[in-house]
Amino acid sequence: MCGIVGAIAERNVVPILLEGLRRLEYRGYDSAGVALLDGQGNLQRTRRIGKVKELADALQDNPIKGVTGIAHTRWATHGGVTEANAHPHFSSERIAVVHNGIIENYESLRTDLTTKGYGFTSDTDTETIAHQVHFELDNCDDLLTAVQNAVKKFHGAYGTVILDKNDPDRVIVARSGSPLVIGLGLGENFIASDQMALFPVTRRFMFLEEGDVAEITRTSIKVFDSAGLPVEREVKESNLEHDAGDKAGYRHYMLKEIHEQPTVIRNTLSGRLQDNGISANIFGHGADELLAKIKHVQIIACGTSYHSGMTARYWLEQYANVSCNVEIASEFRYRKSYVHPNSLIVTISQSGETADTLAALRLAKEQGYAASLTICNVPGSSLVRESDLAFMTLAGAEIGVASTKAFTTQLTGFLMLTMALGKHNNMSQDDHQHIIKALHSLPAKLEETLQLTDGIKALAEEFADMHHSLFLGRGDQYPIAMEGALKLKEISYIHAEAYASGELKHGPLALIDDEMPVIVVAPNNELLEKLKSNVEEVRARGGIMYVFADKEANFKSDETMRVINVPHCESAIAPIVYTLPLQLLSYYVAVIKGTDVDQPRNLAKSVTVE
Ligand code: AGP
Repeated sequence: MCGIVGAIAERNVVPILLEGLRRLEYRGYDSAGVALLDGQGNLQRTRRIGKVKELADALQDNPIKGVTGIAHTRWATHGGVTEANAHPHFSSERIAVVHNGIIENYESLRTDLTTKGYGFTSDTDTETIAHQVHFELDNCDDLLTAVQNAVKKFHGAYGTVILDKNDPDRVIVARSGSPLVIGLGLGENFIASDQMALFPVTRRFMFLEEGDVAEITRTSIKVFDSAGLPVEREVKESNLEHDAGDKAGYRHYMLKEIHEQPTVIRNTLSGRLQDNGISANIFGHGADELLAKIKHVQIIACGTSYHSGMTARYWLEQYANVSCNVEIASEFRYRKSYVHPNSLIVTISQSGETADTLAALRLAKEQGYAASLTICNVPGSSLVRESDLAFMTLAGAEIGVASTKAFTTQLTGFLMLTMALGKHNNMSQDDHQHIIKALHSLPAKLEETLQLTDGIKALAEEFADMHHSLFLGRGDQYPIAMEGALKLKEISYIHAEAYASGELKHGPLALIDDEMPVIVVAPNNELLEKLKSNVEEVRARGGIMYVFADKEANFKSDETMRVINVPHCESAIAPIVYTLPLQLLSYYVAVIKGTDVDQPRNLAKSVTVE
């Protein structure tokens, strides 16, 4: 969470920093700020509450310039949304700091630094970094050494960039638990928390590793590991195709990303799915040997990615004959769990940097899992680097905070993993052929499903005044109902809950009245008749039903039930197909309600703090 951009150049870096912040705004948008050193050794700062636009307007009204600068867009953790709490933070108008992550021992550091005479002007944990570096600098007189000494005192997570007004020809960066990437230019260098921020100025990147501290000048980069020893970090050319700066004519990134799903799923399948199956090496070098011994899968993830894991459990147990547990990463990481023999730990993440998922993976690696696999959308991310195997979803940059195409490409990856594991666990030929056929048909089926847009728009009108809603599904559609509820609540702020519909009579049925819309996902599968009974239980109590159903499921619209017919599809891909109408429904409800669809309140895209 939070976005960092930095630059050291011979030109005015303000436009670079502002464009970088715009590209990172999805990571947090409570406040934004910039600190600049000009050629004469002046340190200036502008900060504003709200989005990057507020900062850009302020800089237009009162321009400041600099050849070295750091900038930040904040998702508040410690301290409210105020200008005083916005980054960059200063120590005595000399040291300037931006920071992602949380310094967990900031209270004791603050007490100690206050005793030493440092005055605090914010409620943030970040300000302790500025003062601690300043304190160390007074003792060693070298900014690099000062930062190396300071970080030894920090517990928690940081990606931080530090400027010293008295040492204007270098910036120092440090990373532990929060990503930082250095962008290489010609006679200028850059820093960001996500490479995407720097695409307008470079495609050459050096990814820092845990514990690294680096000194960056206009013409050099020196990296030191956590022991303080000089290390080489590889420079990689980024070939990420999607330049997220562009909404391609859509009103919101979320709508663009919903409509991209047929294409990005085609990309995710391309070269990986053959007529007769898949090659296990799509999960990485040596995957087939590692997967051959797997008898159990433990999935860990958060949010939408957790819902894709929940769906995958149905597939892995039904088709691949391997047992599977799925757990929320923030729970997994803080309990003692049983490790089944020959277990594969699978993490799922769009960003590859989610703090809880990463911590859960690190814990799992100490617990004796046979191998680790990540299903991830960001090459070079921490989860990819730290896992034995990786399946890269080719969703392209996902900017809307509400995850859409990342989810459906994750599910696509899971169907391929089901085949890879099933091969070693007596998966039936029928099931194998069924999944291949289903995956081949998937992109076209999604294109067809997107044609439902007009009907869903009309439906959305009926939701705008509602305060609560229930989503129902059974079997592998239960996690899809959960995902539908998450989408609706996060962008429209309508309270939404999901239930496996067989659970209704065990409590939630008490909520049903004519002000409670109930959304049902109803493909034509073996659970249809059971689901229909649950629908009747709701109808009998006056509930208003919105049913997304296969035409052959024979639901009929009437005064208490609105039916949207979803194109018939193979059962293995039904969870993916039925996701799209729920995404569209949430999107159009949010548009009608006038919420900030791409950047809903209180959220951020990449959750790199606990
Ligand atoms: C859902 O729309 C959210 N963006 C959120 O639940 C997200 O899926 C979660 O924070 C996990 O993120 P990750 O996939 O990047 O790990």
